[in-house]
Amino acid sequence: MTEFAKFTAADRFSVAPMIDVTTPTFRRIARLFSKKAMLYTEMIAANAIVHGKEYLIEHDADTINPCTLQLGGSDPKVLSEACRIASKFNYSAINLNAGCPSDKVQSGSFGAILMKTPQVITECLMAMQEASEVPVTVKTRIGVDDLDDFEYTKKIVDSVYKTGCRHIILHARKAWLNGLSPKENRTIPPLDYERVFALKEFFPDLAITINGGIKTIEECNDMLSKVEGVMLGRACMDDPYILASVDSRIYNDGSQILSRDECFKKVVEFSEKYVSEGNRLHHLGNHIINMFNGCKGARRFRNYLSCHMHELGAGPEVLEQAFNKMKEA
Ligand SMILES: Cc1cc2nc3c(=O)[nH]c(=O)nc-3n(C[C@H](O)[C@H](O)[C@H](O)COP(=O)(O)O)c2cc1C
Repeated sequence: MTEFAKFTAADRFSVAPMIDVTTPTFRRIARLFSKKAMLYTEMIAANAIVHGKEYLIEHDADTINPCTLQLGGSDPKVLSEACRIASKFNYSAINLNAGCPSDKVQSGSFGAILMKTPQVITECLMAMQEASEVPVTVKTRIGVDDLDDFEYTKKIVDSVYKTGCRHIILHARKAWLNGLSPKENRTIPPLDYERVFALKEFFPDLAITINGGIKTIEECNDMLSKVEGVMLGRACMDDPYILASVDSRIYNDGSQILSRDECFKKVVEFSEKYVSEGNRLHHLGNHIINMFNGCKGARRFRNYLSCHMHELGAGPEVLEQAFNKMKEA
């Protein structure tokens, strides 16, 4: 079934896909803070899904949606099969990664290298749309290596647009495939927001989610006067508390913004359920250990948590103790 991606209300604010960060645990925590933000999974290799690792995309849609599954791949058949398998998990949308520059991803000929062959992006997207019951989108960058002028950005965007897809996520910097690590590729190539805004003139009915370097809700609202959606990665990774303002200040839903302490209390309550399911506390703790950075006593919080969250049987009491240590400061 072909479902052309359209922008949905949820897409106004997205938490970017981040390997080893936007895990199922992270997404459960994020949902405690924001009911409305669009959450992305980590990139999951389509190949792994079709070769028996379906468990990688297990998903509790009722609790976590809106949530987009991000796939990595470059073989239309494999991507299409992965979409078919994913359909049983009821993600809100499926996204193709055409922007990740890591060596591992490049050796599989997917991620950012796809920008060098826009026709492959088109073929992948069409196959995915055909197999998917939910909208299919692409996350890409504004260029790759020396293919980085405005005409080339338009070519990349057109490879998506011509499939009927009407929502694209653009990281507003190019990728250098040789010589820069993925981390450097998130800082060294300069951000060019104007390039992204300029695309609106050529693709007026294409909804654009802009990504890269956005840190505050104020910046989000500024961007949202020029494009339809914003996507934040590291700002949410470094301080998931930013999500507590999103429903009220981005979606304007009239909800009350919980304080940092109130959000933490929600995490403590959730941790009880989390460990009772057989999960280890540190998998949760890793995501919130920096949550009080900048607050008085944050170091005591981090120290206590990092010392005790790995202990066998650690549960909510460890989080509470870490919090109390901080407040004693
Ligand atoms: C730890 C980490 C892992 C990432 N993994 C992915 C990924 O799986 N898929 C993807 O498209 N981008 C990935 N990215 C890139 C982010 O989605 C985002 O495009 C980038 O961090 C720029 O946005 P930001 O400045 O808001 O962080 C990752 C970024 C980080 C920091």
